[in-house]
Amino acid sequence: MGVPTLADLPITRGSRVLVRVDHNVPLGENGQVGDDTRIVESLPTLRALVGRGAVAIVLSHLGRPQGVSDPALSLAPVAARLQQLMDAPVSFVPATVGPDADRAVASAPPGSVVVLENLRFHRGETGNDPAFADALARMGQFYVNDAFGTAHRAHASTVGLPARLPAAVGLLVERELHALDDLRRGPPRPYWAIIGGAKVADKITLLQRLLGQVDGLAIGGGMANTFLAATGHSVGASRIEADQLEGAQALVAAAGTRLVLPEDVVVASAFAADAARRVVPVDAVAPDEWVMDVGPRTLERWARALAAAATVFWNGPLGVFEWPPFAEGTLGTARLLAQLSARVVVGGGDSGAAVAQAGLARQFAHVSTGGGAALAYVQGRELPGLAALAKGGAR
Ligand code: 3PG
Repeated sequence: MGVPTLADLPITRGSRVLVRVDHNVPLGENGQVGDDTRIVESLPTLRALVGRGAVAIVLSHLGRPQGVSDPALSLAPVAARLQQLMDAPVSFVPATVGPDADRAVASAPPGSVVVLENLRFHRGETGNDPAFADALARMGQFYVNDAFGTAHRAHASTVGLPARLPAAVGLLVERELHALDDLRRGPPRPYWAIIGGAKVADKITLLQRLLGQVDGLAIGGGMANTFLAATGHSVGASRIEADQLEGAQALVAAAGTRLVLPEDVVVASAFAADAARRVVPVDAVAPDEWVMDVGPRTLERWARALAAAATVFWNGPLGVFEWPPFAEGTLGTARLLAQLSARVVVGGGDSGAAVAQAGLARQFAHVSTGGGAALAYVQGRELPGLAALAKGGAR
């Protein structure tokens, strides 16, 4: 694998281990954890550390608070959920660095877990500020990166810490790399990708690369609007990314018949959960309508195209799936992929949540906890969080 693993670190009773996890989970309206998949997936590493008598100091971000404390993005509810799942004591400290955090970590008993407050309440996290990384590093003797979903970010907790402490990947990252490695190297063909999500700008370079690897690429979700506009369709009042139209056109031209865009869409009279909806072919969207989801004919087309696939990678929701009237494209995709004989890998984030919501997670070869990270990894891109470990690693 090229990176040190947990077994390489000489962790003993009382060792203080900084564990970067990705507990960036959806919170429900009551402020409690919605889908806890990412927390559950981090348990093997935390249990292994606690089992060795270590103090596991849990570091995570939640949302994008941009360096400002925001009570709505506190990790307190995440710590509460973690306590329900762990057989060891879990304490939450409403500070990320500083005297309160230092004291809580120093007084934690062996075999316990301390959850620190949201890393992104400090600008130093995303800016990889050396002083912030130093303040974090001071609290531990070892560093474990189990945050696969954040491995594509070069932040203080992902690249600053492994430069300062003996470091290794955790068991979740090991599992992810094992499951995603054959997609990265070139899986059995035909190989199809279904890519959704909101923004073309986030993914255009990745889509270009992916096109060089796959036999077919189906696009849905918010970003399909820009592709539909680039191929001469009106998408009504839907937002398109004007600065990405050229890139989208180039991709369409390069892909030829390998690129499959939606044939029909679910439109709404307003961008609202309770707006009136109808299903229309892509060339019949009225000027005041919003495209909210892919339609049933599109799913039928995908089912036909993918029937012979040997490998499928799916990343990103195909519509506004958090609103039930516009969830069918995403949930229907989960169902159709679950029936294929192909090896199907779901690149996490929202698509992982959709698969969990549809109760289908066990039907797939692998459901990644990473969204953008999984997409970047399967195309052979270097992930800064892993590269930092390969460089520094266990010392
Ligand atoms: C994710 O949900 O993809 C990860 O937690 C990374 O979050 P970010 O895109 O805000 O860096």
